[in-house]
Amino acid sequence: MKPTYLHAFTKPSRTEFVTMVRGVGARLYDDTGKEYIDGMASLWYCNIGHGRKDMAEAIAAQIGTLESYNNFDPFTTAITDELTDKLHSLSAMPGNRVFLCSSGSEAVDTAMKLARLAQVQAGHPERTIIISRGRGYHGSNFGGTSAQGLPLNKIGYDPLVPDVTQVDPDDIEALSLAMSRDSARIAAVLVEPLQGAGGVFPPSDGYLQSLRKLCDQHGAFLIFDEVISGFGRLGTWFAAQRFGVIPDFTCFAKAVTSGYVPLGGVFVGAAPLSALEADPNFVLRMGYTYSGHATACAAALENLAIIEREGLVERAKHVGSLVSTALHALHRDGLIKQVRGDGAVWAAGLHAHHDAQAVRDITMRNGAIVRGIGADTNAFCPPLVTSDAEIGRLMDAYASALTEHAQAVGA
Ligand SMILES: Cc1ncc(COP(=O)(O)O)c(C=O)c1O
Repeated sequence: MKPTYLHAFTKPSRTEFVTMVRGVGARLYDDTGKEYIDGMASLWYCNIGHGRKDMAEAIAAQIGTLESYNNFDPFTTAITDELTDKLHSLSAMPGNRVFLCSSGSEAVDTAMKLARLAQVQAGHPERTIIISRGRGYHGSNFGGTSAQGLPLNKIGYDPLVPDVTQVDPDDIEALSLAMSRDSARIAAVLVEPLQGAGGVFPPSDGYLQSLRKLCDQHGAFLIFDEVISGFGRLGTWFAAQRFGVIPDFTCFAKAVTSGYVPLGGVFVGAAPLSALEADPNFVLRMGYTYSGHATACAAALENLAIIEREGLVERAKHVGSLVSTALHALHRDGLIKQVRGDGAVWAAGLHAHHDAQAVRDITMRNGAIVRGIGADTNAFCPPLVTSDAEIGRLMDAYASALTEHAQAVGA
């Protein structure tokens, strides 16, 4: 029977799904009772693991007190102010303020709009161009769709947002040329410090440092999309700290609540802030009904407390080293073509005879979840609470799947 639910990033013709019903830590259970090790923290977000009672209690307590109240002029909520104080203190961006929304896509659109707006308020309305990188993923709203560098995801939605262009993801010279060509018209450059959903590509040495210099030289804001890398995934709170480069805006979502309740946001740095704050009569005319949603903020505060209490930022390095060691062994044995990653987010680049989606399906049969990206990449992004034994099960399930698939295709 045709399902009533039209699924995200799925063929509308698909009628059969794996139905998840329960989660505990890094383990998930489907409606047949089958157990899986979640090697993807759901969709790059569940850093603290599934099904936690401490999260349930914090969320229930907030709902029992005040589920939410809007944060449009003149209102705020106490828990929202508490969360932005906490986020402010974790960020590497000096003097930041925090805008809140409900998803990564909204965070990206917000940052793109705020970058243009700050240029207008600084007296540069002609600065409208936003440059991003090929292979980047920035969500599914119109801004992020226009900025993403994954061509298949852009088909069918034209016309996209004007003045949003992409350059080769690794070629700093190409970016330098593009910026020189339009120097006085650029509002911002938008990048994932480590590209995630496009296949897990860490930045090449010095790329982000050069990018920062180019933005300063051309008067452009630098926007980091840290929707995957934020909140410990790379062994630091943010990729900005991992790579030692401070942006003007940082988009975040996902692991800010580990996905228990949807929340996203944007750190706005000192340079754009001074433009936005200069005129005391200026009104910021954008925002969302659920900006600063009290229950989402309560979930975020408890999630951040858990990350601190359980040392999960530091633990990301350990979890990642186990995944990386296992992948490098598969590479040495010739089972995979390439290993890419950093911190606790990794990818296997596959040989031509393998199909990443088929390998994913066999891995699931073997009791673990990895992600297929296109035909040639499997991604790994386990919860940061995953035990060593569970990582072992994940990587064993994956290794067997590679062998089983190679046999199935006669390679
Ligand atoms: C880097 C990046 N930006 C933006 C998004 C969009 O986030 P959301 O799906 O919460 O809208 C994602 C989602 O995977 C992402 O990885």
